[in-house]
Amino acid sequence: MSAKPTKFLCVCGARPNFMKIAPIMDALARVDGAETRLIHTGQHYDERMSRLFFDELGIPKPHINLDVGSGSHASQTAEIMKRFEAVCTEFEPDWVIVVGDVNGTMAAAITAVKLGRKVAHVEAGLRSFDRTMPEEVNRILTDSISDVLFATEPSGVENLQREGMTNGKVHLVGNVMVDTLLRHKSAAAASTILTTVGVSAKAYALATLHRPSNVDNRETLVSILDALDVIAADMPVVLPVHPRTKEKIDAFGLAARVDASAGLRMIEPLGYLDFLKLMDNAAIVLTDSGGIQEETTVLGVPCLTLRENTERPITITQGTNRLTGSSTNRILEAYSEMRRDPPAACVVDMWDGRAAERIVQTLLNCR
Ligand code: UD1
Repeated sequence: MSAKPTKFLCVCGARPNFMKIAPIMDALARVDGAETRLIHTGQHYDERMSRLFFDELGIPKPHINLDVGSGSHASQTAEIMKRFEAVCTEFEPDWVIVVGDVNGTMAAAITAVKLGRKVAHVEAGLRSFDRTMPEEVNRILTDSISDVLFATEPSGVENLQREGMTNGKVHLVGNVMVDTLLRHKSAAAASTILTTVGVSAKAYALATLHRPSNVDNRETLVSILDALDVIAADMPVVLPVHPRTKEKIDAFGLAARVDASAGLRMIEPLGYLDFLKLMDNAAIVLTDSGGIQEETTVLGVPCLTLRENTERPITITQGTNRLTGSSTNRILEAYSEMRRDPPAACVVDMWDGRAAERIVQTLLNCR
């Protein structure tokens, strides 16, 4: 590629992608002469899992929605590849930009590289070192074939170097999810969700659960719900429930017990602004999400991660995050400890709201 790149094909598809792609679309819109297309794979399709985020974050309507919907990993990945191939062939982008670690990230990257297109991976190098996580497989494969790798934290750069990526390819640029958080924090402050849910600032816990390793196994799910029940006796626990988790609660016959738990408030999935307001005002967050570990670090809110590992170690070494796994006792011990001695808030280097600008500038300089 000799001339300055002008054609960018951005890919998103599942809820955590939307807050990552938003600032990149915004930064590309400010580049003179750039022709940018946004492709939605359609992995997430419910109003509350997708369109709400486009509206709230001001993301332009996708040029094309591949409408792949739900399915097994193989069928979803294959459908994205088949449908994305046609789009990529027709548009002939200089750069395909993929974000995060969902199935569409990997599917689009593989398709683009095989068509001879250059791929930039945003949020590269994160490793949980747990290959039973589908996201870990997506990360490793995407990173191994991408032309440019944008890392959010130093551990990402180290992981990539250890895997043999040359320095010229890897750029530490900060965190696009934080760009979005900082941009929307004041709008989120106006949300009335605390009143709607019936909780007071800093007097409730916020929980999210969706990892297959936590919710697809009845015993593990019960172990976590047992812990939430005990915490709910201390302060209300708000649980915006992911569709996967809702399905499993129903399938395992746990709906009645969740309804019977006085302090546990299971609610529909929330939009970005309401969720940010709930996070910012929580006394503590319990989660198995990746992004929420980072968002609570930026907000200075204590976070218990209900997993044995994290691909985002900076949220522990510098942030407010602690790992608990899924055992009732370990969650409750960590809860008591964190209530007694909350971790101090900190500022992570380069998580300053300018990651997308750095990414776009780097791509414009790549010849
Ligand atoms: C996916 C990502 C995960 C990410 C998560 C965020 C992969 C491998 N996983 O997991 O990394 O953290 O999104 O939410 O890409 N469903 C609906 N409505 C929707 C979407 C899904 O009801 O709009 C239901 C379907 O029954 C589906 C199930 O939720 O089978 C799981 O959805 P899926 O996208 O396969 O995985 P997630 O658990 O959401």
